[in-house]
Amino acid sequence: MRKIEHIGIAVNDLEKSNQLFAKLLGKEHFKTEVVEGEAVETSFFQVGETKVELLQATNDSSAIAKYLTKKSEGVHHIAFDVEDINQEVARLKSEGFEILNEIPKEGADNKLVVFLHPKSTNGVLVELCQEKS
Ligand code: CO
Repeated sequence: MRKIEHIGIAVNDLEKSNQLFAKLLGKEHFKTEVVEGEAVETSFFQVGETKVELLQATNDSSAIAKYLTKKSEGVHHIAFDVEDINQEVARLKSEGFEILNEIPKEGADNKLVVFLHPKSTNGVLVELCQEKS
């Protein structure tokens, strides 16, 4: 893994949170994007080499909606940039980590993504992401 690509934060109201994080970070988000497959609307802030990804559910069956009913707003996942996502999945699988989706899926921001089950990573939902070429 090469760097922390972004930190994902679950929010109830993307518009309000965009304003809050703009104040916090001293800059505006640079894009918003709906990921249909995940039923989320996202917005991104650039902070040095790393991004902050705000996530709001677009319907009640979204993983973010479920997360927010069980927990509160806050850090939802940490995403690591990888060069070759399939190779990294094979490596982590052989190390005993539980992979939530072995076949990479479409994520926001032009990425292929795979998630690891938090029960195998000390409670942290880990996302691997590879920039699509
Ligand atoms: Co993410």
